Amino acid sequence: MVYGRVLDERGRGVPGALVEFWQANAGGRYRHKKETYLAPLDPNFGGFGRTITDEEGNYAFRTVKPGPYPWPNGVNDWRPAHIHFSVFGHGFSQRLITQMYFEGDPMIWICPIVKTIPDEQAIRSLIAALDMNATIPHDLRAYKFDIVLRGRRSTLFENRPEGN
Ligand SMILES: [Fe+2]
Repeated sequence: MVYGRVLDERGRGVPGALVEFWQANAGGRYRHKKETYLAPLDPNFGGFGRTITDEEGNYAFRTVKPGPYPWPNGVNDWRPAHIHFSVFGHGFSQRLITQMYFEGDPMIWICPIVKTIPDEQAIRSLIAALDMNATIPHDLRAYKFDIVLRGRRSTLFENRPEGN
């Protein structure tokens, strides 16, 4: 499960935000026409979902943890496990796009795409924390990922690299 809150610059939850997410399957394979990686498709997994935040800005979804996959522009470069997010904030015309990574993954720090982010704090804002309190025994692990739309503590957005 991935869960968290969509927050504004004052740390207030943003209700009614549309949160969309897409990802590779557990083997690192996307269900996409242009996908070239040889890992198998999972017939039970589409790789895309959407939800809307509640009154406090909370969202949650159940998924499989995506696998890493090779980044074809490098000889031996890999993308760390990640989930793509698109957020339509309440009352904003702009669509915000980012990627979430998983705490403790050593692939994060050697990823050529992550390395293009000069600010370590900005990278850390993209890493979801393993939450053993929200983890359900024998069922699922929980990762917590808060998305801050604006302000000094805002999440790094791919389509807004100059700042939020
Ligand atoms: Fe990806």
